Amino acid sequence: MQIARTLDDLRHVLGAYCKPAFVPTMGNLHEGHIALIRKAKPLGDVTVASIFVNRLQFLPHEDFDSYPRTWDSDCAKLQAAGCDVLFAPTENELYPEPQTFKVHPPGALADILEGHFRPGFFVGVSTVVMKLFACVQPRVAVFGKKDYQQLMVIRRMVRQFALPIEIVAGETERAADGLALSSRNGYLSASERHEAVQLSLALKRMAAHAKPGTTDLAAIEAEAMNTLLSRGWKPDYMTVRRRTDLQAPQAGDPLVVLGAAKLGNTRLIDNLEF
Ligand code: PAF
Repeated sequence: MQIARTLDDLRHVLGAYCKPAFVPTMGNLHEGHIALIRKAKPLGDVTVASIFVNRLQFLPHEDFDSYPRTWDSDCAKLQAAGCDVLFAPTENELYPEPQTFKVHPPGALADILEGHFRPGFFVGVSTVVMKLFACVQPRVAVFGKKDYQQLMVIRRMVRQFALPIEIVAGETERAADGLALSSRNGYLSASERHEAVQLSLALKRMAAHAKPGTTDLAAIEAEAMNTLLSRGWKPDYMTVRRRTDLQAPQAGDPLVVLGAAKLGNTRLIDNLEF
């Protein structure tokens, strides 16, 4: 695997290829990321990953400084998965001057759910992804469904800016008990790790109740919030939405249930299409 630390290096390495398949990450890689690399591999003539912890998508009180930087094990995992090129710019390389031009996704999509609880998050994500796309110039990029709203924002951005990039979705990888794999799972204590599966169980119960076409989604959502609250979680949202735009569903819409909740100091998100 070749490692490019600068944009010049990256352009030099990628000059020989015409169809890069790209997986952007913030590092601290787990099997979920590696599954995205494996998905990307047959889709291009070179597989590129990036590792960049993007300050722009963290609020001041969030975990930017403590976000785990696990360079050696990340490189080993990427290499083993057959990643060809790793782009790992410094902050100074990617943002040599303050990034005052930003991508502002529409509020109807980006100020709800994650965007409501993490204001500015999708501006930060869209801006860095646009910039990484400009650096890597991929023809295909793979994003995990675990970050369901992020995937939707990126798809919409690519469509509206007519970027010549196919966005491919990777399924959420889960631990044996059903917990969605996430870099932040590493923050959980042993007892929290045991409890953490309750988020995906609550989403499954919501989907089972909403499936028969129940109209009282508010009751289903309130019950899930209360269950988590009673177990000591601090839920931000547990909600049933339509898949197309994450708005309140109408009869017959394909649905997704999404949740975000804090367990101790760790904020977990998950979702389930049904
Ligand atoms: O999903 C992530 O890890 C990040 O939001 C991304 C897409 C790499 C942008 O920083």
